Amino acid sequence: MTTGQWVRRLRRTLMTAGATLALAAGVLTGTATPSQAAVQGPCDIYQGGGTPCVAAHSSTRALYGSYNGPLYQVKRASDGATKDIGVLGAGGYANAAAQDSFCAGTSCVITVIYDQSGKGNNLTQAPAGGAAGGPDNLANAVEAPVSVGGHKAYGVYIAPGTGYRDDHTNGIATGDQPEGMYAVLDGTHYDGGCCFDYGNAEANDHDTGNGHMEAIYFGDIKAWGYGTGNGPWVMADQENGLFSGAGTQFNANDPSVNDRFLTAIVKGAPNQWAIRAGDAQSGGLSTYYSGARPNAAGYNPMHKEGSIILGIGGDNSKGSAGTFYEGVMTSGYPSDATENAVQANVTAAGYSSASVAGNTLTPGSRVSLRATTTCCTGDYITHDDADNKAGITAVNSSSSSALKGDASWIVRAGLANSSCLTFESANDPGQFLRHYNFELYLSPDDGGAAFAQDATFCSGAGNSGTGFSFQSVNYPTKYLRHYDYTLYVASDGGSNAWDSSNSWKDDSSWLVDQPWS
Ligand code: AHR
Ligand code: AHR
Repeated sequence: MTTGQWVRRLRRTLMTAGATLALAAGVLTGTATPSQAAVQGPCDIYQGGGTPCVAAHSSTRALYGSYNGPLYQVKRASDGATKDIGVLGAGGYANAAAQDSFCAGTSCVITVIYDQSGKGNNLTQAPAGGAAGGPDNLANAVEAPVSVGGHKAYGVYIAPGTGYRDDHTNGIATGDQPEGMYAVLDGTHYDGGCCFDYGNAEANDHDTGNGHMEAIYFGDIKAWGYGTGNGPWVMADQENGLFSGAGTQFNANDPSVNDRFLTAIVKGAPNQWAIRAGDAQSGGLSTYYSGARPNAAGYNPMHKEGSIILGIGGDNSKGSAGTFYEGVMTSGYPSDATENAVQANVTAAGYSSASVAGNTLTPGSRVSLRATTTCCTGDYITHDDADNKAGITAVNSSSSSALKGDASWIVRAGLANSSCLTFESANDPGQFLRHYNFELYLSPDDGGAAFAQDATFCSGAGNSGTGFSFQSVNYPTKYLRHYDYTLYVASDGGSNAWDSSNSWKDDSSWLVDQPWS
């Protein structure tokens, strides 16, 4: 054991002992006061380090041991009603069941991500900015299911076009004031569009020049800085530049990261800034950069403006994708030791992509979908890497791993109706089965209502009496059906060749098998 590991183990033991004592005191007196909360959140740790949170956002858990308020608000499509989603108890995990029942039979978007710090820095729909278009889309509330500490929760799924912002903040660093921030992200959901950010940006939604931002960036755009490998990289968006280190472009110390769950850190103080990151499921943080401001005009001193963005660039550039679970901004430059303790808290929270339920057609499960027509009982629904169409292909244990991946799907709650289903490719995360002109394709979510409808299927008993059938939510007479090895939404008789009644019942009935990968 290294000294660091020993110190961490000791600290954990002491924390557990303290928690037991606090619990015992609560039992003895019959009360539990917030100041004696048995659980510590990341913001309690930052507070103890002298760099308190001035914004604390999460859709998965409380970030203070005593926090017992709302985490986020959802709005449902059926009647436009909104509901705050809170925690299961003080300092606890999100009450995802409340969202599930409120959104049952319709779809929901996330309208507000509340600030737990008490500063009122809530994130809401980002307005139009200097870059094209806006206001931005809101995140579909069911698109990023996750398990945290064994509890079901939802992340904030940013499809390109989606973004959140607060331009009227309280307590966030401005000018050259010191600050820190961390975020827990889905390390497998990113793109090369500008700019999946969380942090400090312009108050007027326009690019007001170098040094007017300081935000965590995650993705694989190479237009500004980049690091080793093909990405994705954690970088610092300091405006007109995503910095991976001291140089404006390549920096060898910023590695590609490939954790399913990623802790990403950026912090800045007068002529000093750093990038740190680690696996949010285990282990510690690595420092990828710590040193002077970029060697380019305008970044020293900084001109931070103190707005907060999520999922977009400072000027509302919104070509970016990513998933956010939790993050904070602090007042003051946190010490590495404080951040290391926050990382220990994050890993102890227990982020996991494991299915939170057993049923194979339950959101979060992986499945392969097998044809039942006698021609084709060894064939599975696959996407074709050559042309992004979907069809059926024979797959067996000696098939290539690429084909096995093409035949495997992650079941998601339906984007347009959470009681129905959406199928995400297992080997192309962020790409979903959707129909277009009644033919099935693998496509990224563009955040629009049409996409959500085209990608939502309601499962029911198989039309032939075998297995399951998947009904199109926007064309209810049509079901997922193979015809000439291509996948369609088809009705039992109709104007298109694939609507042929011949073997329609069998062609539209599917077995849900164990996933090939
Ligand atoms: O710094 C990278 C990006 O450049 C910023 O996020 C955006 O405001 C500008 O387009
Ligand atoms: O697939 C049928 C329709 O074709 C889809 O709803 C629409 O996106 C496209 O026009």
